[in-house]
Amino acid sequence: MDSLAVALLGADATEARAASMLLRASFVFLSLFSLSGCGLDSQQPRWYSDQQVTQGKELFQKHCASCHGFNAQGMYADWKSRLSDGYLPPPPLNGTAHAWHHRLPLLQEIVRKGGALYDGKMPGFAGVLSEDEIFSVIAYFQSFWDEETYGMWSEMQKTGGNGFGAKSGG
Ligand code: HEC
Repeated sequence: MDSLAVALLGADATEARAASMLLRASFVFLSLFSLSGCGLDSQQPRWYSDQQVTQGKELFQKHCASCHGFNAQGMYADWKSRLSDGYLPPPPLNGTAHAWHHRLPLLQEIVRKGGALYDGKMPGFAGVLSEDEIFSVIAYFQSFWDEETYGMWSEMQKTGGNGFGAKSGG
């Protein structure tokens, strides 16, 4: 046996225990660190407040849920195929369909004017909902969007077009 091996094998038990505790501690530390890196703590800030989501929920149930579903999940499995009347069905607004492709000002405009904007069938809510209430219903359905979807949407706000809206809520 060479002298290095002797030194290692001969390392005293306390020292070995200390080393293994240190290893374990740094493992725990690293795992906590990486958890916080992708966990709830690092959720990106959203433009709306909890209060807007709460208000939006009530308004959404009253004005939107009959077509878009209580949790904005949509009522038709196939929201891309036109119905027998030639119109598109109300799509899910929970981030699984197309709504995240629209910047905030366009989402507001859709809620204000409805299908009149693009030859659709949705009723407009201008005069029914105030501007603040429109922000709230949007906040409500956006609260279902996962981090990835919200991230792509919010990236889009920055890159061109009509900006992030006249008012960023709150
Ligand atoms: C009578 C049914 C109906 C009601 C009520 C309704 N919608 Fe719609 N909505 C639709 C339909 C149908 C479409 C698909 C486009 C069209 O035909 O106008 C749509 C499309 C949308 C879109 C565009 C989604 C996309 O993927 O491009 C948004 C946003 C939206 N609705 C939000 C709302 C909100 C918010 C409310 C409540 C304030 C609401 N809708 C109430 C039927 C409705």
